[in-house]
Amino acid sequence: MDDNFGTTEDTREAAVLMNRIETALVDSPPRAWLQRSYELPLLERLGARIPGRRVVEIGCGRGVGAELLLERWGAAHVTAIDLDPAMVERARRRLARFGSRVEVRVGDACELPLDDAAADAVVDFAVIHHVPVWRDAVTEAVRVLRPGGQLVFEEVTRHALQRWSYRTFLEHPEVDRFSSDEFVEALLEEGLTMPVPAVTRFFGDFVLGVAVKPATANQGPL
Ligand SMILES: C[S@@+](CC[C@H](N)C(=O)[O-])C[C@H]1O[C@@H](n2cnc3c(N)ncnc32)[C@H](O)[C@@H]1O
Repeated sequence: MDDNFGTTEDTREAAVLMNRIETALVDSPPRAWLQRSYELPLLERLGARIPGRRVVEIGCGRGVGAELLLERWGAAHVTAIDLDPAMVERARRRLARFGSRVEVRVGDACELPLDDAAADAVVDFAVIHHVPVWRDAVTEAVRVLRPGGQLVFEEVTRHALQRWSYRTFLEHPEVDRFSSDEFVEALLEEGLTMPVPAVTRFFGDFVLGVAVKPATANQGPL
């Protein structure tokens, strides 16, 4: 198996991976608590439904999200992808106990190692704002989603990235970042629908929601 599907040294150099401070924040118990106790329940209320499904998590980091998708949301199988080989190693260790229910791979959210319509759901926990050409990651998520499948997202907006704290301590691409409305608009332009409107949180710093790829006649929604 090609363990670096879609990634090269150039891809990784062009990407803005997490610096040490962000890695420490993402790897922290408060981040795991936030995901478990706030983001998942909110996304459930917005319509996220993945039990028994084939799920792709882009930018899995150290694997806490995938763990929750398997344990809390009952995903049948999770393909967890991250551009950073160090993160993939950590996620593999964390997720080893799930055996064949999980596959963790180095990969680029803009070039996923999956066939068209292979996934019942794609989950984005705070990743697409790291991608320089972020619309390519949206297009790619839609490509691998099956009709009726869900794109479940929690994203960080331009509003947050322009804050002094983000600019001083963290590293992100600086041009063409999105507002909450622009992110939702990009999903709609890709043909997704949003049965329940996305919500913004913390003065517009975050946008969370569930977008659905329209089902064809023979395939119902999730
Ligand atoms: C802010 S962290 C989020 C980690 C985790 N999803 C969470 O919510 O705690 C962003 C992650 O996305 C990864 N990443 C950045 N660009 C990526 C890309 N183009 N494709 C896949 N992963 C990417 C980074 O390596 C990092 O692990």
